[in-house]
Amino acid sequence: MKTGLFGQELTIAEQLKAATFVAHARIQTSPFSQALVDCQLPLESYVAQLRALFVIHEELERALDNCRDERVASVWRGDMRRLPRLQKDLEYFQPRMVADLKEAADAAQQVAGFIRTKSAEQPLNLLGYLYVLEGSTIGAVVLKPIFARAFLLVGQEGLSYLHSEVPAVHVRWGQYQQRMNALRLNKEESALVVHAAKEFFAYVETLFQVLYPFKPESRVFQATSINPDAGQYPVPKDPREVEAAVKAGDICWERFPYLKQRYGERGLRFTRSDAAWLTTLAGCDPSLIIGQVRWLNRVLAGRGMPSIVMQVQLEMLVDTLVDAIPERRSQYEKLLLASADLLKLRRQHLSDEALLTLSASFDSAVGPELAAKFPRMGELIVCAVIDDQAGIETVAENVRQWMTDAARFPSEWIRAVESTLAQARQQAHPAKSAPSEHV
Ligand code: HEM
Repeated sequence: MKTGLFGQELTIAEQLKAATFVAHARIQTSPFSQALVDCQLPLESYVAQLRALFVIHEELERALDNCRDERVASVWRGDMRRLPRLQKDLEYFQPRMVADLKEAADAAQQVAGFIRTKSAEQPLNLLGYLYVLEGSTIGAVVLKPIFARAFLLVGQEGLSYLHSEVPAVHVRWGQYQQRMNALRLNKEESALVVHAAKEFFAYVETLFQVLYPFKPESRVFQATSINPDAGQYPVPKDPREVEAAVKAGDICWERFPYLKQRYGERGLRFTRSDAAWLTTLAGCDPSLIIGQVRWLNRVLAGRGMPSIVMQVQLEMLVDTLVDAIPERRSQYEKLLLASADLLKLRRQHLSDEALLTLSASFDSAVGPELAAKFPRMGELIVCAVIDDQAGIETVAENVRQWMTDAARFPSEWIRAVESTLAQARQQAHPAKSAPSEHV
């Protein structure tokens, strides 16, 4: 047990503060903080910080939610979640199409990987990481007005993550410290939590180093600028194209409520960043466009998204792009070659009429209430079977598993799913060409 100046035992909260004091001071005097105070910090540094924190909080909050350790669970509360605030801030900056910083995006992924591995090894590590991020809410009281001044932000615009009410934030911090101090931790366990906080602070310091200053070549337009969880694939530099892609993703999301019901907010972010990547293909040769779309379609199909989703997504995308920049119509319309390719393949296996009939009979089997609550599900079930027949992926089994989960759906629904699958399998013609020719 660590002791204070007069030999008294330090609480775990005091140990954490003492052990990370120097690292915290280094962050406060870092070039990032200096540039911020001088109103010289580039907006890229702030937005890249928000994106990195998004990736980190997402991983940490997921690990905390799923943690079975009783001591960790006694400290973590759902209302400590800060991911929704980061999401709000990123949505605020989305239309400005701020470039990402490559090294910061990489560093965030590294921290997320570190949290994943270390919390699996020893869940108590999570308490060290949580201390660092929860403690930053105290500093945020000071930081929010500085960021607001530096970037001319008003109210909570782009500042939700840093926003807090005084004295509520201090009350919350005090209660958090009480929960920490009430833990029964032996000497080794306390040392482990403190070590975890120190290690985490070291990662935060590295992050701040790459956030500012940065080299010009670190500025990248990649999918992480739209969706921090995405990989390092390119997205358009033209903000009008990005906006059109995001809009197309949102329309597709509305067309297929299945996407929201199954994949949630995270799925929406991927739909948007994938649409932005698809936009970059418009500048390519038709054969490359078709090949790349088939590739992405296969990846998504493997995760339970039948090809009709990609087909509709592309059609929406061309509409929104042409609306945004009509003079590039001929370039954007090249993307329709890829949607037509998917449509043609589907029609080789089942006619549109048969698809409509099967979808309608699914809707009447589940009844108007469920059909309204889960629209277009019959169509997706049939299209999943067609994808199987076309050798795209084993989509039907993936969709079946989700759609026949008794925790989610009533028995009449599950019976209708099984029956529609069987009918679709009967009616869809087998592949005319070898699957490998398509995928
Ligand atoms: C320029 C940047 C920062 C400033 C000006 C700042 C400022 C502050 C201030 C004024 C406090 C309250 C100290 C006290 O009451 O004793 C504090 C606490 C804290 N900050 Fe920061 N902070 C900054 C960055 C950060 C960062 C990036 C993190 C980590 C992600 C962080 C983590 C913490 C923690 C863990 C505490 C709680 C310390 C404790 O009482 O145990 N801070 N910060």
